[in-house]
Amino acid sequence: MLKNKVAIVTGASRGIGRAIAEVFVREGATVVICGRKKETLEQVAHEIGPTVRPIVCHVGRSEQIQAMVDETTREFGRIDILVNNAATNVAQAPCLDVDEGMFDKMVEINLKSAFRLTKLIAPGMVERGSGSIINISSISGLRPQFEGLLYSMTKAALIMMTQSYALELSPKGVRVNAIAPGLIETALSEFYWKDEERRAERIRQQPVKHLGQPIEIAEVAALLASDRSSFVTGQTITVDGGRLLSSI
Ligand SMILES: NC(=O)c1ccc[n+]([C@@H]2O[C@H](COP(=O)([O-])OP(=O)(O)OC[C@H]3O[C@@H](n4cnc5c(N)ncnc54)[C@H](OP(=O)(O)O)[C@@H]3O)[C@@H](O)[C@H]2O)c1
Repeated sequence: MLKNKVAIVTGASRGIGRAIAEVFVREGATVVICGRKKETLEQVAHEIGPTVRPIVCHVGRSEQIQAMVDETTREFGRIDILVNNAATNVAQAPCLDVDEGMFDKMVEINLKSAFRLTKLIAPGMVERGSGSIINISSISGLRPQFEGLLYSMTKAALIMMTQSYALELSPKGVRVNAIAPGLIETALSEFYWKDEERRAERIRQQPVKHLGQPIEIAEVAALLASDRSSFVTGQTITVDGGRLLSSI
């Protein structure tokens, strides 16, 4: 499905990003994975296989983003697929406790990183008339998360960023889509599933009766990355076990 494609997946040293890298490799792609810790990235690359290239990159730093894109282009010639997956939720707090420093950090990491990477990578895609960009949003970008003002705000903005880029870039052969995962069993969300009672409550609220797994997001990302979804652009695919259906 992704034979001969070159992809960058941000935040791929664990969780959803790692699963996306694994599935892309399974489908034949060469995948650059990024994160902030060299040893972890190298270990993950070793575990997934020889078509994975680890590059240390803090997505909040523009010079590191530029260096990663330069290195990838130098080594592999082009970038066909970009997955903006890295994100943080350092600012979980009552809305009136949120300060400007938290605001700037969340915008920089969760939102501006996707803007910066798209700005660097999309022109090459446009030139070749082909590319797929996937932004990992959240169901918290569709409904406000309690005490998650900045997380929800950045994830909602990512959805509109997706639609705006799709509108202008799709006529030039570049599709841009988002995925809105529900609760997925990763380090980022452990507050919601590590405690047995909270975990059971979350599963009770979902029509699909298991906790979401990173691979279940990765399979959807692979479809969006491939030509099999050639008529899909500007969409936000909710992958949440039906969680948003069950609010009444
Ligand atoms: N888990 C969920 O329930 C859930 C639900 C909805 C949406 N999502 C979204 O899915 C995406 C992945 O989340 P996850 O649950 O897989 O998180 P995770 O397990 O915490 O993994 C996050 C990844 O991003 C990297 N990362 C963090 N900050 C970074 C930075 N500044 N620069 C570069 N890399 C960075 C981490 O590596 P280092 O720490 O080594 O840098 C790690 O590889 C995020 O966009 C998240 O918002 C998750």
